[in-house]
Amino acid sequence: MRKHIVAGNWKMNTTLPEGVALAKEVNAALAAKDANCDVIICVPFTHLATIAGVIDQNKLGLGAENCADHKSGAYTGEVSAPMVASTGATYVILGHSERRQYYGETSETLREKVALALENGLTPIFCIGEVLAEREAGQHFEVVKKQIEEGLFNLSAEDFGKIILAYEPVWAIGTGKTATDDQAEEIHAYIRSVIADKYGKEVAEETSILYGGSCKPSNAKALFAKPNVDGGLIGGASLKCADFMGIVEAWD
Ligand code: 13P
Repeated sequence: MRKHIVAGNWKMNTTLPEGVALAKEVNAALAAKDANCDVIICVPFTHLATIAGVIDQNKLGLGAENCADHKSGAYTGEVSAPMVASTGATYVILGHSERRQYYGETSETLREKVALALENGLTPIFCIGEVLAEREAGQHFEVVKKQIEEGLFNLSAEDFGKIILAYEPVWAIGTGKTATDDQAEEIHAYIRSVIADKYGKEVAEETSILYGGSCKPSNAKALFAKPNVDGGLIGGASLKCADFMGIVEAWD
């Protein structure tokens, strides 16, 4: 059975004290219940080591929001996969649409990042998704297929099996406009078929595919009820413990 996952993406939010307080709050909420899914928080680089020291990673996974496409060296301001791993974090979001859009990330650099993440024992949460114009032109299927093929299909089946995918339609991110549960199911099922064509049905059935884009407690249950939606990657609603836990509880 593939994993059900609720992962938070804090993006560029919270100072270190605010982030530590939020992580402690989520950690305490999870200690008080048996969550019916894996729960992960992906936080700014500056927060990783401190948060790793205050949470129980058996109950709350910890990840970065990006890593560099080089192992080490003269890349001022970058943070490498070995650095992330050395904080105690075990996940890393890669290829988020904001990174692709504002920081020029391409499939080529993402292949390097994925390889370095895997080499360093980090589980990539690899993001794909179309922009509004592509959805309106009916190109969303081919867009996500290309992103998966170019970013991930160089991997062996064994390595691909370590990836968590997140489908995030760009038009739904931070807009309050969620994909309907039927829209999500349609494209998640398609994504799974693309994986099956390349790696076989078994690998495809084991791959967790998360939905991201204005997911909140009020719509999470309907989204997660769809057979091919294995959880969520949560932006805004991961910044309030009660909202985030409301989404975790959608799996109860
Ligand atoms: P929102 O939940 O704020 O729409 O963000 C989604 C997202 O980009 C998660 O990676």
